[in-house]
Amino acid sequence: MASASGITWKNLLSLTLSVSVVAALIGNAPADDEAIFPMPSGKTYVNECGSCHTAYAPGLLPVRSWRKMLGQLDKHFGEDASLEEPQRLEILKNLELLAADADQANMRMHRINGAIAAAAVPQRVSETGYFKYMHDEVPAYIWKRKKIGTLANCIACHTRVNEGRYGEREVRIPQQ
Ligand code: HEC
Ligand code: HEC
Repeated sequence: MASASGITWKNLLSLTLSVSVVAALIGNAPADDEAIFPMPSGKTYVNECGSCHTAYAPGLLPVRSWRKMLGQLDKHFGEDASLEEPQRLEILKNLELLAADADQANMRMHRINGAIAAAAVPQRVSETGYFKYMHDEVPAYIWKRKKIGTLANCIACHTRVNEGRYGEREVRIPQQ
């Protein structure tokens, strides 16, 4: 399944992976532990919050982080990302509904939330304990590649991230 633009992560695991593909087909459902995060329905979120970077899955940060971020979009990491009020409220509602500490959070989202101190209000997914833990095997020289650039550029490696899919089978590391 190697694509022209990148290599599959851990090619050596292809045997194991094809076994799990078959298992998934038989089960007709993704494994419980697959890294799939719920995304807001409709196109508003991906269009508005995925135009400058990856449309980050809401389940990567807790409600308080999203509230703070959506309360200061005019000063968003040095950019003005302001939205009209009806859109801002619609997006905020979706972020709250699908956040790491929302009522319907799945196991993975609980783990993300559990690794964030109760008093912390992180604004960067890439600075959370879960992100660091999941990527500690990716060596520093890879992050410096031109097509990646910053840790926050999830979509450079996670090809289906705008659908909330971060599973290892869909990881392709750019070669330059
Ligand atoms: C005008 C461009 C722009 C828009 C629109 C925008 N952002 Fe950003 N965002 C940025 C920039 C620039 C950064 C910093 C990126 C970096 O440091 O790599 C950033 C960073 C982030 C980060 C932190 C990423 C990390 O882990 O380091 C999150 C989360 C985020 N944005 C969410 C959103 C959400 C939610 C919306 C929609 C409400 C949004 N952004 C809209 C420009 C934008
Ligand atoms: C340099 C490429 C790269 C970038 C950029 C990147 N990742 Fe990853 N990510 C990986 C690799 C490699 C793995 C490990 C796959 C494996 O072996 O399970 C991984 C694993 C993950 C996992 C766990 C997948 C699983 O199966 O449990 C999540 C969730 C994840 N990344 C989220 C993110 C988010 C969110 C961002 C951006 C803020 C991001 N990643 C940026 C390469 C990257």
